[in-house]
Amino acid sequence: MSIELVVFDMAGTTVYDGDAVHTCLAAAVADVGVPTTREQINALMGMPKPLVIATLLSSHRSTRPSDEEIAAVYGDFEQRMLAYYRDSVLVRETDRAGDVFRALRGRGIKIALDTGFSRPIADAILERLGWTGGLVDVTVTSDEVAHGRPQPDMIWRAMELTGVREPSRVAKVGDTPADLLEGSAAGCALIVGVTSGSHTDAELALHPHTHLIDSLVELPAIIEDVDRVREREPGDVSVPLLFTPGPLTTSRGVKAAMQRDLGSRDEEFIHTIERVHDRLLTLAGVSRADGYAAILMQGSGTFAVEAMLGTFVPPGGRVLVVENGAYGKRMLDIARALGISWATVSSSPTEPACPETIARVLEGDPGTTHVALVHCETTSGVINPMSTIARVAHDAGCAVLVDAMSSFGAMPIDVHADGVDVLVASANKCLEGVPGVAFAIARESILRAAPPARSVSLDFAAQWRGFERDGQFRFTPPTHVVLALEQALIELEREGGIGGRAARYRANHERLVSGMRALGFRTIVNPAHQSAVITSFLYPDDPAFSFEDFYTRLRLRNFVIYPGKLMDVPCFRIGTIGRIYPEDVDALLAAVRATIASPLSAS
Ligand SMILES: Cc1ncc(COP(=O)(O)O)c(C=O)c1O
Ligand SMILES: [Mg+2]
Repeated sequence: MSIELVVFDMAGTTVYDGDAVHTCLAAAVADVGVPTTREQINALMGMPKPLVIATLLSSHRSTRPSDEEIAAVYGDFEQRMLAYYRDSVLVRETDRAGDVFRALRGRGIKIALDTGFSRPIADAILERLGWTGGLVDVTVTSDEVAHGRPQPDMIWRAMELTGVREPSRVAKVGDTPADLLEGSAAGCALIVGVTSGSHTDAELALHPHTHLIDSLVELPAIIEDVDRVREREPGDVSVPLLFTPGPLTTSRGVKAAMQRDLGSRDEEFIHTIERVHDRLLTLAGVSRADGYAAILMQGSGTFAVEAMLGTFVPPGGRVLVVENGAYGKRMLDIARALGISWATVSSSPTEPACPETIARVLEGDPGTTHVALVHCETTSGVINPMSTIARVAHDAGCAVLVDAMSSFGAMPIDVHADGVDVLVASANKCLEGVPGVAFAIARESILRAAPPARSVSLDFAAQWRGFERDGQFRFTPPTHVVLALEQALIELEREGGIGGRAARYRANHERLVSGMRALGFRTIVNPAHQSAVITSFLYPDDPAFSFEDFYTRLRLRNFVIYPGKLMDVPCFRIGTIGRIYPEDVDALLAAVRATIASPLSAS
C-alpha cells in the first residue's frame, strides 16, 4: 500500500457552501468600510482567515490594521460563518465526498480534513454534515498550528495524529493554490487540485500539482495507480541499483514527476524554475536578498564547469587549477580548449590538495586572477579543504571557482562564509535528481560584471540575464528534468536537508567500508579525508581478478558499480549516494561475497 493518508481541504473541496466564505468575508470587511472584489478574495482563498482579513484591509488603506481590529473583524466573520453553517440550506457535501471517504477507508487509507478555518467553524461544518461519527480520522484547523497554508504545518500535524511518517504516503486534495502549495511544501506524493471549488483548471494549473480533477470521485482510481508505482523498500533489489557517482538510483517520486509535458513558456514551468532557484540558494546558505543567484544550465556537470570557466575568467585573466584527480584535469582540458591562460598545482588523488603549496604558487605567479578547484574529487572520493584554499586565494586577490558536483547537497556548504565566488553542481548527484541540468550559484555583482563568454550557449551571465528578463531558459529547457529536480529538492528537505541526507550517506559508506574490509578489500584514501559519496577499493591481490568479470557478475545480480579512475592504481569505485539505504549496501555486500566465493577469472 502506498498512500496511507489523504488530507482533504474542507470548503470548496469536500464541503459545498454556496458562497459562504466570500459572502461572510465581504460583509465583515465591508462593515469596517473596506470594499472587496471577488477576484481579491479568491486570490487569498485557503489561507488563514485572520491573514486574509489583514491583507484585504491593508491593501485598501495601504497601512497595516491593528491586531485588535483584525481580531474584531475576524470575530464578526466567524459569527457570520457559524450562523451560515447552522442555517443555510445551501450547505452540503460536494461530489459524494462521504462515499469517497468510505471507499478510501475501505482500503485502509486514513482520512484527514484540514482547513483555513478556525476550530469553531470547522466543528460547525462537521456537525452540520454529520461527519462527527468516525467517517473522518482527524481534523486540523489553521489556529491549531504555527503556520497555516501555504506552509505545510497542517499536513504534518495530520501525519503526526495518524502516525503516518513519510510524505510519500500522503495525498493532499484541495481547491485553491494555497492547498497545492501546502501539499508541495509537505512533500506529498500526490497533490490533487479539484476544480469543484473556487478556482478553474487553468488557475490551478499554475501551481504545483500531480493531478487536476473535476470531481472527487476520480480520486480512488488515481490512488490505485500510485499504489502500483510505490517507492522501493530499502533492501528490495528487484531492480538495478546504481552504486555509482551519477546517474544514480532515484526515487519513484522523482521519476513520476517527469510524467508531465510542459511548454517552455508555460507559467507553471516558469514558477517551477523560480522555486528550484530559491531552494538551490537555500542549500548554498544564501538568498536572493543576499545578492546571489542560482542559474540553471542545460547539460551534464561538465557543461557547467566549462560555462563557469568560460564565463568568469575574462580575456587576459589567468586561472590556477588545483588538480588532484580526473575532474581537476578536465578543468585544465577546458582551459586549454577555450584558450584561457592557466597554471596548475597537481597532487595525488589520495590526499587533499595542500593550501600552503597553493599560496606559494600564487605568490610566484602574481598574474593569476582565479583559483579553480574541485571540492570532492570524485576520482578517489577525497575532500579538498575548500574554505582554506578559498582564503589563500582571496589573500592573493583571486576569485574562487568551485566544482562541487559530488558534494553539493550532502556536505554543508555556505558559499558566502566559505569564500566561494562561483560554485557549480548538477542535478544528478547528491540532490538525487536525474541527469540533464546543472547550475551555478554566483553573486549577482559577478554576473553583472562578466564579459561576453567564450560560447553562446555555455554563458552563465547571458543565461542569468535571460532568467531575469522573462523567467525562461534561453534555449529549449530540459522541462522534465527540472520537474524531477524540484521533486528531488522537496524530498531532500523532507529527509532533514543536508544533515539528514549526509547521515544516510555516512551510514551507507560506513556499512560498505566495514563490510568490504571484512571481505579482504582495502581502501585507498585516508579515512580522515574520505567523503561518504564514493569510495575507491584496490583490486584484490588475486592475479586472476578481472574487474570486467566482477562487474558483470554483480550486474547480473542488479548491482551496478564503477571502474576506478586512478591512472596508476588498479582499483574500482563504489558510490553510496542516490536513493539507496544501508539495507541495499548489505545486499550488495552479500552479492560481492557470493561473487568472490566463485573463481573470478572470465574463463
Ligand atoms: C567532481 C566532478 N566534476 C565534474 C563532473 C562531470 O560531470 P558530468 O559527468 O555530469 O559531465 C563529475 C562527474 O562525476 C564530478 O564528479
Ligand atoms: Mg478550499
